[in-house]
Amino acid sequence: MTSTYAAPAFAASATPDTHWSRDSVIYQVYPRSFRDSNGDGIGDLAGITAELGQLADLGVDAVWLSPFYRSPQRDAGYDVSDYCDVDPIFGSMADFDELMHSARGLGLRVIIDLVPNHCSSDHALFQAALAAAPGSAARDMFIFRDGRGSEDDLPPNNWQSHFGGPAWTRTVNPDGSGGQWYLHLFDSTQPDFNWDNPAVHVEFERILRFWLDRGVDGFRVDVAHALVKAPGLPDWGGTAWGGSIEGFPGEEAPMFGQPALHNVYRMWREVLAEYGPDKILCAEANVDPLERMANWVRPDQMHQAFNFPYLTSPFSAPALRSVVDSSLRAFGAVGATSTWVLSNHDVVRHATRFGYDGPGPREGDGIGSADPQPNLELGRRRAAAASLFTLGLPGAVYLYQGEELGLPDHTTLPDASRQDPTFARTSGERIGRDGCRIPLPWRAGSASAGFSGGETAADPWLPLPAAWDDYARDVQAASPTSHLALYRKALQARRIHGLGTGTLQWVEEYCTEQSLGFRNGTTLALLNTGTTPLELPRGTVLLRSQQQLGAGEALQPGEAAWLSI
Ligand code: NOJ
Ligand code: CA
Repeated sequence: MTSTYAAPAFAASATPDTHWSRDSVIYQVYPRSFRDSNGDGIGDLAGITAELGQLADLGVDAVWLSPFYRSPQRDAGYDVSDYCDVDPIFGSMADFDELMHSARGLGLRVIIDLVPNHCSSDHALFQAALAAAPGSAARDMFIFRDGRGSEDDLPPNNWQSHFGGPAWTRTVNPDGSGGQWYLHLFDSTQPDFNWDNPAVHVEFERILRFWLDRGVDGFRVDVAHALVKAPGLPDWGGTAWGGSIEGFPGEEAPMFGQPALHNVYRMWREVLAEYGPDKILCAEANVDPLERMANWVRPDQMHQAFNFPYLTSPFSAPALRSVVDSSLRAFGAVGATSTWVLSNHDVVRHATRFGYDGPGPREGDGIGSADPQPNLELGRRRAAAASLFTLGLPGAVYLYQGEELGLPDHTTLPDASRQDPTFARTSGERIGRDGCRIPLPWRAGSASAGFSGGETAADPWLPLPAAWDDYARDVQAASPTSHLALYRKALQARRIHGLGTGTLQWVEEYCTEQSLGFRNGTTLALLNTGTTPLELPRGTVLLRSQQQLGAGEALQPGEAAWLSI
């Protein structure tokens, strides 16, 4: 069944240079933690629909929904068992149509998450593969191999799972003996598809069309650098657990960035084009360096790629300048704009990361009670500054739900509550990503800060820290100087002054070890990453991240401002 929307309420992008995605602000919704409409403790599609007006009001152009498909939820939905259905914990297909309908009415575009590298081991295709014989067509949809060693009891190669432990699991034959092994770059319940098999391409084209027919505006493509593996699946001398940054560019990783995968995206781009010029693809392609990542956004492939070097930059003027320069250069060289990202559901939120003075926690590892705790006041102040600086840059911005509230991570989550497979697969050595996935606080003074609706609410799937009433949206909505107010004002000013489509020019006088300044059109953006106040130049202060300070006061350490010059 296809849906019956009215024609999209958006004017089609006139030319590639004016494509809406180039300067878009896209808000990531992590469905299980956004808003729970029925009180079962898990966020759902109806909860998102009910609050879409808040996002339109915030001033974003589009939402990206993390997976809501049928899934046993062993990796929070990135383990899909049916790509063309909604998991009952999130609602129904009718709920999805309702969400699309509301988004259209509010002028919001909707991008969904496509997970093509792997599916759930519960997926019918994988179950069929397990039931079939080695060498069969069913097995060829995945990457099955015989083991090494005289008993086949060693994994086919030395690759490690991102979540810890080997990237191979051995199957069991009907007679109980050990069978072939299958590859999973992530959890053992997430078998990798075999993208050397044309049948896999056909299956994903079907999935793309299914959702395009339902009116989605595009796809965020999960691990878009991993689909195709090097022929022969050679051992790799890179970092044992296979982080995608380690190993580049000195050593080519056989599971990342293989040339043939670009043909997949060329084909998808053609499929999207059949649905009009406005459909987009955004790559999660965590490869170094940026010049290499830019290969994903060449004109015949994707529209955007998440900027991981920006996401992992410290709160330091020289580091930020360097990554902004290399991003503009690398993406500009292929005719694309850069994206700017400070937080997502896989990393420690920037309000927590920037609350450390030394090197912060390692990406993807999370923070536990036994770790040094962040200075939340410092983190929140710097987060506001970093966000204002970011929203002044030309290009596209991705926001992660809750960052507009200045939310930090939950850094003292009890181990018993942890859900991320990383925690269990590393026996707790890596804390995992639960801390950045805590349900959002909506109403101060209510159970679980109003995350769950319904008469009797169950405990949320991850507990909220006790002190989160202070961050609740209703409290912030009532304050003209809240974090939320800053985002709203910044998004409005960004639009009015055309900052997303502008050009960046550094103002050297402000570019020091301690500060940065750039001009974008008639706006001057300043950032103080140092320890001493910075005199503000003449000009009208449009916005400062410490909103309670007067226009004439110096720019404080950990503060940013926009001036009209
Ligand atoms: C990247 C996603 O963002 C992450 O949450 C997930 O665990 C892995 N890909 C595997 O799908
Ligand atoms: Ca629910």
